[in-house]
Amino acid sequence: MDSRKKAVLLIGSLVSVILIIVACATQPIAPVEAEPVVTAKPETVPPEKKEPVSPYDVDIKPLTTAECGPCHFSIFNQIRHEGGRHRIDCVQCHEKFHAYNPIRQNWKEIMPRCETCHGIFHGDKFAACAQCHSNPHAPKTQMAMTPEFAKMCGDCHAKVGQELKQNPSKHTKVACSMCHHDRHGYIPSCMECHRPHVEKQTDPECLSCHPVHSPININYAHTVPNAVCGSCHGAVFNKLEASASRHRLVTCAQCHSKHKYIPTCEECHGKPHGEGLLKKFPNCLQCHIDVHDLPTKSASR
Ligand code: HEC
Ligand code: HEC
Ligand code: HEC
Ligand code: HEC
Ligand code: HEC
Ligand code: HEC
Ligand code: HEC
Ligand code: HEC
Ligand code: HEC
Ligand code: HEC
Ligand code: HEC
Ligand code: HEC
Repeated sequence: MDSRKKAVLLIGSLVSVILIIVACATQPIAPVEAEPVVTAKPETVPPEKKEPVSPYDVDIKPLTTAECGPCHFSIFNQIRHEGGRHRIDCVQCHEKFHAYNPIRQNWKEIMPRCETCHGIFHGDKFAACAQCHSNPHAPKTQMAMTPEFAKMCGDCHAKVGQELKQNPSKHTKVACSMCHHDRHGYIPSCMECHRPHVEKQTDPECLSCHPVHSPININYAHTVPNAVCGSCHGAVFNKLEASASRHRLVTCAQCHSKHKYIPTCEECHGKPHGEGLLKKFPNCLQCHIDVHDLPTKSASR
């Protein structure tokens, strides 16, 4: 190492030492905390160790929920993950347990009753809780679609029932529980029963055109890809794709803003020719021939 390098190193380390000192000096000084007042404690006498006289000379505490867990592992875990607001101690519900006697057939008697805490929650019509809440340990997420349950959708979802009735479609005749099968709240994919119009179409796309409870009230945005329309109107789609006309740059949905709606040319073009001409030829297509393939002056456009 030559002396120049040494000098540089020396200066370097000197500078860092100074910097550290400066940093320390400018550190805010922590306020001195008031020392807690020590009050004189009475001398604690260590409890005398008593030799147990009998193995029963101990207090046993009731089992905690965590202690039920290792034996009832799956129930514990189910409540933990799906119990929702039923994540309460087991014994709050199971005031009696390990008391089932097959001779006495007392299962129902010892099992907790929903009414104890909830009363007849939704009114008399829904008194048999287990018809719908089939799993007390996951009372909201695991509601199997029983036949009794399937008959009662309309009682709570009157609006949906009305929507289906007031907009007659083939879905009106499909039972609620055919689509919402399996369990309460299940939302089906359209593709469980239908093929998409074009590949890779997703459920949100289907729903953006077909409100599921009134599927023939078709609505769509003007950004819908032409290929979707083309899946049924192949001839028009192919003609427009191949056309030299600038209408090729207009989407199907921009002109046909609702399904089956036929636009007038004036909506976009106003009055492009003189009054006289238009009086004589009221239909633009008398000259422009085909809206999906306008004859153009030069095909190279
Ligand atoms: C909200 C009340 C409630 C809570 C909390 C609850 N249970 Fe239950 N449990 C019930 C009801 C109601 C039944 C009866 C179900 C039936 O009749 O089939 C039951 C049934 C059982 C059964 C017998 C049926 C089976 O599925 O094997 C066991 C075992 C059981 N519970 C254990 C537990 C344990 C362990 C906990 C706590 C980790 C717990 N329960 C928490 C309400 C509850
Ligand atoms: C040492 C293991 C063990 C522990 C701890 C345990 N159980 Fe059980 N429990 C069993 C067995 C074994 C059965 C009978 C088989 C079955 O139903 O799974 C049973 C059955 C049950 C039953 C249904 C039959 C009946 O007679 O009630 C309930 C309810 C129940 N246990 C609740 C509880 C609760 C609540 C706790 C905690 C407070 C608990 N168990 C702690 C082993 C245990
Ligand atoms: C020991 C009392 C007790 C019993 C018995 C009981 N529950 Fe509950 N349940 C509760 C409590 C507490 C809540 C939470 C309520 C709240 O937060 O307002 C609750 C909440 C619920 C919820 C809403 C759950 C959620 O996550 O939002 C449902 C559904 C429910 N109970 C159904 C039942 C059914 C069905 C039964 C009978 C199988 C039953 N309960 C038995 C105490 C009980
Ligand atoms: C016809 C089916 C059906 C029957 C019968 C039924 N319930 Fe329900 N219950 C439901 C449905 C569906 C919900 C809503 C679940 C959800 O919000 O996802 C519900 C919700 C609840 C809730 C939770 C409300 C909240 O605050 O989220 C409680 C508590 C409840 N039921 C208790 C009961 C009790 C107690 C009984 C019997 C006396 C009973 N239910 C009978 C279908 C039923
Ligand atoms: C006791 C009243 C009750 C009954 C009976 C009932 N529901 Fe519900 N349902 C509810 C409540 C409460 C909710 C949750 C609140 C909400 O989001 O509107 C709900 C939510 C739903 C949802 C929406 C879930 C989501 O993710 O948005 C569907 C789907 C549904 N129910 C279908 C059904 C079907 C199908 C039936 C008949 C088999 C039925 N319900 C019966 C009360 C009920
Ligand atoms: C053809 C299948 C189908 C049928 C039949 C059907 N649904 Fe639905 N339902 C769906 C789909 C899919 C969704 C999700 C819609 C969404 O996300 O916009 C849904 C959403 C719902 C919802 C939650 C959203 C809302 O609109 O409130 C409820 C509640 C519901 N359905 C209840 C019912 C009831 C009650 C019936 C019978 C009267 C029924 N459904 C019939 C497929 C169906
Ligand atoms: C459980 C099965 C099922 C599901 C899920 C389902 N549908 Fe259907 N849908 C049907 C049946 C059955 C018909 C009648 C078919 C027929 O007669 O050819 C139908 C008919 C239709 C029709 C024609 C309606 C008419 O009146 O002409 C449309 C549109 C439709 N479905 C869209 C959808 C969309 C969008 C979804 C998803 C949001 C969906 N469906 C989910 C069963 C289903
Ligand atoms: C851009 C809007 C649009 C989208 C997105 C769309 N559809 Fe359609 N769908 C239509 C039109 C328009 C019809 C024809 C209606 C008629 O016959 O009057 C139709 C008809 C149907 C029919 C009736 C039977 C048939 O094939 O003629 C079914 C079923 C259907 N669509 C299901 C679906 C499903 C499933 C999806 C999603 C994968 C979907 N649709 C997405 C516009 C759309
Ligand atoms: C699932 C098939 C399907 C899809 C997808 C579809 N249509 Fe249709 N469309 C039909 C049927 C069926 C008719 C009725 C034909 C008839 O009445 O001769 C129709 C009729 C029309 C008509 C009226 C035709 C006339 O003669 O008056 C226009 C315009 C139309 N569709 C445009 C579109 C556009 C734009 C799209 C895309 C957003 C589209 N369609 C998507 C099936 C479909
Ligand atoms: C520049 C506006 C415009 C565009 C873009 C357009 N259309 Fe049309 N379409 C019309 C007009 C206007 C008519 C009525 C023509 C007539 O009266 O002869 C029509 C008629 C139709 C018809 C019924 C007559 C026939 O030729 O079968 C269908 C189906 C149709 N269009 C589908 C489509 C589809 C699919 C697309 C996209 C691939 C599309 N249109 C793009 C304006 C347009
Ligand atoms: C939704 C709007 C819309 C409708 C409806 C519409 N057009 Fe056009 N049209 C356009 C656009 C956009 C252009 C391209 C203009 C540009 O690039 O400057 C165009 C261009 C044209 C051209 C110029 C030729 C070409 O290839 O560039 C003619 C001619 C024409 N339209 C005739 C018609 C006729 C006839 C109708 C009715 C049958 C009609 N248009 C309906 C939007 C529309
Ligand atoms: C008598 C035949 C005739 C009728 C009817 C007619 N046009 Fe034209 N239109 C033409 C001719 C020819 C051209 C070409 C002129 C040019 O290239 O300078 C033209 C050009 C156009 C252009 C293109 C202008 C440009 O800048 O490129 C539009 C847009 C147009 N017409 C729309 C319409 C509409 C909308 C109607 C109905 C209201 C209509 N035309 C009726 C003959 C007609």
